[in-house]
Amino acid sequence: MDINTVTTTPLDWCGEGLAIACFAGVTTPLTGDFAALNDRLDGTIAELISEMEFTGKAGSSAVTRVGTHSPVRKIILVGLGEEADYRLNTLRTTAALIARIAKQQKLKTLALQIPPIGTGAQMAQMLTEGLHLALHADHRFKSKPEDQPTLLATVDLLGLGDVGTGVATGEAIAQGVILARELVAAPANAVTAVTLAETAQSLAQEYGLELEILEQADCEALGMGSFLGVAKASDLPPKFIHLTYKPAGTTRRKVAIVGKGLTFDSGGLNLKVAGGIETMKMDMGGAGATLGAAKAIAQLKPDVEVHFISAATENMVSGRAMRPGDILTASNGKTIEVNNTDAEGRLTLADALVFAEKLEVEAIVDLATLTGACVVALGDQIGGLWSTDPDLAVQLKAAAEQAGEQFWEMPLEDQYFEGLKSPIADMKNTGPRAGGSITAALFLKQFVEKTPWAHLDIAGPVWADKESGVNNAGATGYPVRTLVNWVLS
Ligand code: BES
Ligand code: MN
Ligand code: ZN
Repeated sequence: MDINTVTTTPLDWCGEGLAIACFAGVTTPLTGDFAALNDRLDGTIAELISEMEFTGKAGSSAVTRVGTHSPVRKIILVGLGEEADYRLNTLRTTAALIARIAKQQKLKTLALQIPPIGTGAQMAQMLTEGLHLALHADHRFKSKPEDQPTLLATVDLLGLGDVGTGVATGEAIAQGVILARELVAAPANAVTAVTLAETAQSLAQEYGLELEILEQADCEALGMGSFLGVAKASDLPPKFIHLTYKPAGTTRRKVAIVGKGLTFDSGGLNLKVAGGIETMKMDMGGAGATLGAAKAIAQLKPDVEVHFISAATENMVSGRAMRPGDILTASNGKTIEVNNTDAEGRLTLADALVFAEKLEVEAIVDLATLTGACVVALGDQIGGLWSTDPDLAVQLKAAAEQAGEQFWEMPLEDQYFEGLKSPIADMKNTGPRAGGSITAALFLKQFVEKTPWAHLDIAGPVWADKESGVNNAGATGYPVRTLVNWVLS
C-alpha cells in the first residue's frame, strides 16, 4: 500500500473512496467546504448524514455509493467525537476505522480528508500508523488464507502539504509494531530463543546494527546463574541477545531497553494450571517489543545510542529443571531462593539488568509480561509502570500518551520487600499473592544499583481478545510505539 501526501482538495480528487472525518454535532444543511463538496456530489453527503442519522460520534461511520457520473465511487463519513477532545492520537484510531471500511468495501484507492491538528508531518505519521496497523493480517500459519486480501493500493492524504517524512516515520513505527506482533503471535515451536537470536541477526544485517549473542558458556562465564537456572530445563540453547544501535554523528544519550524473552512459560515444576498455560507463547512479549523498537529506531536514526537486550529461553519441565527451593546466584552475586519456578521472568531479567547497567547507560527500561497480578490490578489495556526516577517516569508517560498506549504508575513500596525475605538466601523470588506486581518490581530493583530505571509490566496489553482501535484480535505489538517515542524524545 502506497501512502501519499497530496495537495489535491476533496473537490478535485478522483478515485474510489473518499473518507471525510467530521466532529460531533454535524448537521444539515452543511456549511463551508463541506457544502461545496456536497454540491459537487449532488447532495450525497447531506443525504447520508440525515438518512443514517450520522452525528459524528467518535467511532461512528456511514458509507454510501455516489452516482456513476461522480469522480468518486463511495463516500465514507467517520466521526471524530467532540472537537474539544480532538487529539493527534485520535488520528490513529480514525485511520484504522477508515482502513477497515475500505477493506470491507474492497476499495483500491482511497483519500482521507481530516481536520487539521498539530503539524502536517505529525498528522501523516499518525494516519500512516493507523492504516498499516489496522490492515495488518497474519496468514503465516494458514495453508490457505481465508481472510479477504486487502486490495487497497493507494491512499492519498489530502491537504497536509508535502510531508512524506511523516509517512516514512509512521511506516517505520508500524513495521516495528508489526514485527513485535508477529513474534508474539507465533507459537513457541516457531519462535524459540534460537529464532529470536536469528531475528536480531537479520535486523543487524539489514540496518547495520551491532550484535552480540552470548551463548550459554558466555553467560556462565559472566555468572548469570539466575537466567541459566531458568534455561536449564529447556532442550534448546539459551541466547542472550544484545543488539546495539549507534548514531552516526554525536550521541546525545545512551539508553538500554531490556525485554523479557520467555518463548514459552510452562511454569516449570510449580506448573501452571490449565487456563493459564495455553497462552504462554506470548511470554516473550517484552523481547518482541524490544526487537520491534529496534526495527523502527534503526530506520529513524535518532542521535541516541540504544542497547536492546533480552535473555531469551523457555521455562520448561525436565529432570534438569531447577526445583522449587533451589538457590541461584545472579551475576551481581546476589542469591535467590526460588520458592516458585513460575516467577521465572524476574530471574531472567535479573541478569539482563545487571548486564545493562554495566554498559553505563543513562537509563534502563525493562518490559515484561511479568505478572498476572498486574492484569488483575489494571486489566488488559493498561500496563503498569514502576520507576526509581521521577523524570524517567514522566518521560515514559508522555511517550505513551503520544503513542496511544496506556500506562499507570504503580508504587515501588520498599516495605513490601519484607514479603521477599528468605531465611536462607538474600531473597526469595516470590512474595505473597497480595501486591504481586509490586513485589515483582521490587525484586527487579535488587539488580539495578544506581542507573535510573523503569519497569513496564505488559502482561495485559500485549494481547487483545478482540479488535479495537489500531489493534486486531491477537498480538498488539505493545509498547513499541511508547519505546520509540521515548527514545526519540
Ligand atoms: N508469564 C507469567 C505472567 C503472566 C500471567 C503473563 C498471565 C501474562 C498473563 C509469569 O511468569 C508468571 O507466571 N507469574 C506468576 C508469578 C507468581 C508465581 C508469583 C503469576 O503472575 O502468577
Ligand atoms: Mn511464569
Ligand atoms: Zn512468565
